[in-house]
Amino acid sequence: MPETNPPAASPAVSPIDGRTRVVVILAYPAHHVRTPAFFNARAAALGRNAVLVPWQVSPAQLPGALAGLRAVENLAGVIVTVPHKQEVARLCDELEGVAADLGVCNVARRTPDGRFVGRVFDGVGFVAGLRAQGIDPAGKRTLLLGAGGAATAVAAALLDAGVAQLAIVNRSRGKADALAAQLKAKRPAAAVASAAGPAGDWDLIVNGTSLGLKPDDPLPLDPALLRPETIVAEVIMQPAQTPLLLAARARGCRIHLGEHMVTAQIDLLADYLLGTPPAGAGSPA
Ligand SMILES: NC(=O)c1ccc[n+]([C@@H]2O[C@H](COP(=O)([O-])OP(=O)(O)OC[C@H]3O[C@@H](n4cnc5c(N)ncnc54)[C@H](OP(=O)(O)O)[C@@H]3O)[C@@H](O)[C@H]2O)c1
Repeated sequence: MPETNPPAASPAVSPIDGRTRVVVILAYPAHHVRTPAFFNARAAALGRNAVLVPWQVSPAQLPGALAGLRAVENLAGVIVTVPHKQEVARLCDELEGVAADLGVCNVARRTPDGRFVGRVFDGVGFVAGLRAQGIDPAGKRTLLLGAGGAATAVAAALLDAGVAQLAIVNRSRGKADALAAQLKAKRPAAAVASAAGPAGDWDLIVNGTSLGLKPDDPLPLDPALLRPETIVAEVIMQPAQTPLLLAARARGCRIHLGEHMVTAQIDLLADYLLGTPPAGAGSPA
């Protein structure tokens, strides 16, 4: 199993000096974010002079915060998490790749003239995390719970990875309908549709909602629907074992942790924000 904790032997963060590039993670609330620990340990291991710090910014204050960040010349960019992925995409000056197709981004780099250019690595990170754990989504009948920022990126990447079928279930059904239609528009042959509920014969179930983040959250689906053959995957990283994963394990299912999604995309985020390091500079931990 690959290392999923920040490497213990590395410093948690590079020494900070006047040349340090700053990355901000925009979140609300911010107490649950684990990306700084992974990013800072990785940046230190790679010899990158950069630091990631959490900023707790409410949705109402987000436009003002982002406008202020445009003026910060040593800002490499922002990483974006719940609940800001769609709004930051809207506020970016330019979107690249799947972010442009779906209007969602989890990272935006700041250009020298103070523009923000956004991308989304959540989906490719989720699929890379599955593969790193020996789970190939190709050919799997898949149920995705949620249609927010993370779920949107995961849906696109699962289709691109060749799932046999993708059903999207969301509390607000209209958002699931819109997401399925948006995905289908770019991939006419894909077997993707929204569904009224989670019942079905699934090889892979992905919780892409934020249910499980708070201790009093209800489960995102009734565990009685789970068969032992079904793999149950999370996007939530904190707690590592959500009530859904515990319930799935109790029913004999293989489970897949949310943290694999972030560990699989840290290097992508670092290269996008800081530029690809010259060959031979630093070495992976
Ligand atoms: N592991 C990683 O690398 C990683 C990366 C990104 C995000 N995440 C995690 O993914 C989760 C979602 O983030 P996001 O950016 O997608 O957030 P988001 O855009 O706000 O979407 C939240 C989703 O959860 C659903 N939801 C929220 N409260 C609900 C409730 N009470 N009942 C039913 N459904 C509910 C929403 O449904 P409605 O549409 O009906 O509101 C929506 O589908 C967060 O926990 C975040 O920490 C993890």
